[in-house]
Amino acid sequence: MPIPVSCSFDQLLARCGLPRLEARALMTLASGRAREWLIAHGPDPVEAALRERFEALVRRRQAGEPIAYLAGAREFHGHRFEVGPAVLIPRPETEQLVDLVIDQASPGADVLDLGTGSGAIAVSVACARPDLRLTATDRSPESLAIARRNARSLLGESQATRIAWHEGDWWSAVPGAAIFDVIVSNPPYIAQDDPHLADGDLRFEPRAALAAGADGLADLRTLVAGAPAHLRPNGLLAVEHGWNQGAAVRALMFAAGFVAVTTLRDAQQHDRITLGRIPANGGRSAVPGLE
Ligand SMILES: C[S@@+](CC[C@H](N)C(=O)[O-])C[C@H]1O[C@@H](n2cnc3c(N)ncnc32)[C@H](O)[C@@H]1O
Repeated sequence: MPIPVSCSFDQLLARCGLPRLEARALMTLASGRAREWLIAHGPDPVEAALRERFEALVRRRQAGEPIAYLAGAREFHGHRFEVGPAVLIPRPETEQLVDLVIDQASPGADVLDLGTGSGAIAVSVACARPDLRLTATDRSPESLAIARRNARSLLGESQATRIAWHEGDWWSAVPGAAIFDVIVSNPPYIAQDDPHLADGDLRFEPRAALAAGADGLADLRTLVAGAPAHLRPNGLLAVEHGWNQGAAVRALMFAAGFVAVTTLRDAQQHDRITLGRIPANGGRSAVPGLE
């Protein structure tokens, strides 16, 4: 049904062609008004300039652009993170990885977040654990710029200096002698020809943040193989992966010498995170000559 030239907020939201919640989110963006204000003022007429701004956002959404990119932000672990087309939109599943680091890092621990994107993991951990020292890397300079801004806005200028940022390809970005108590990563893990890459929000997100070789495990192989050289005895590695990659990632961790290797499931009961520890003796054999 065509929308009359002069119409109310309620009429515009109901007839714009988007689900109600999305329509209200876009009107919040276009108007700068809170959701409660929009509900209270539903019968009021919408001025022409606001209607134009709203309809421009509706057209972009109907073309598939993620709401997080239209808004320039996404809530993650209770914080509002700036996002844009240069970074992955942080996912709720990854909050479990953040909780794991917050729970398991010992006081004063050194934590490394590889492939930090918007800084979702590193900054959320830093917000919850002021005692930790963090290092975060990414190959994308645009991501690192956004991550640094998120650190400054969520932690404040002085606390943001607790995170050291390094640009570069996985381990080459990490200073050679640097050693950590916890290494965490949500790397790309989708197979490069997976048809889901052409669906929904994924179409708009950076391919380099999503796809990892023919089987999706290329980056996980590099991360797991390189981690022991950068972990202290008893150090923890925790990585996010695809629902069907748990067994493969556990095998990679066992092959790299990790112990206490476990896979955790997400809220949908899918394998999502695998973790393992470096043995307390650093992996040296008790039998002389076998280390
Ligand atoms: C799945 S995204 C995760 C982003 C963020 N940690 C999160 O959970 O929202 C993977 C990130 O790894 C980065 N990345 C991809 N390949 C990389 C590489 N070879 N070296 C370093 N970072 C890489 C991407 O730029 C992207 O930011």
